Amino acid sequence: MLTYELPSVPDSPPVLARGPWTQEARQRALDQDVLSHVVEYFGRAMQARNWSPWHNLPLEEMGQMGHRLSPDTIHLVEGFLGVEEYVGDYVQEGLTIFRHNRTRRNVQLQWGAEEARHGIAWELVLLHSYARTETQLQTYLDQVRDAHWSVQQHPGIESQLGGTAYAMVQERATYFYYQELRARIRHEYGLPTEFGPDSIVLSRTGEMIMVSQ
Ligand SMILES: [Fe+2]
Repeated sequence: MLTYELPSVPDSPPVLARGPWTQEARQRALDQDVLSHVVEYFGRAMQARNWSPWHNLPLEEMGQMGHRLSPDTIHLVEGFLGVEEYVGDYVQEGLTIFRHNRTRRNVQLQWGAEEARHGIAWELVLLHSYARTETQLQTYLDQVRDAHWSVQQHPGIESQLGGTAYAMVQERATYFYYQELRARIRHEYGLPTEFGPDSIVLSRTGEMIMVSQ
């Protein structure tokens, strides 16, 4: 004889999703959620990431310590400068996608304003460490600008979902790269690679960009 086990009755009633149910209401809920994240993001930008590459970097100390940087490290910094300089192309794509979404359009503008400092910071590092001259930097920046970054070069990120996934991974990867670069610079400066109160100069620059990233 077949026997059946009755399913156990849960102690508490099942959780019921409370909607919203209509497409419009769900969109409204999503927009509200996005806005609350944007408000938080913007607040942190104003209060925790409010630095200026021209005003807050220890440029004098770069001049004193810059000669300790290895050619490979200089090369890395120059490479990151090139990547950061495409910020205009990145934002241009975002502004096109979010042309009709005020909140997300504003995120693109704010993100771009913050990111624009990174290229300036790396440029100042190379200049004030006496690793590159103004002329060399100008030539390099001209070369960078001659190429146009586009999502079309990266199949799969042209959709909003693909773009979001790409941005998430890319931002985390860049944070990791800058963390490693900061440690590398500290090592070449003769400082402990662990960040501490003695942190100075270029190490500080790396930290600022990292936090900002
Ligand atoms: Fe950046």
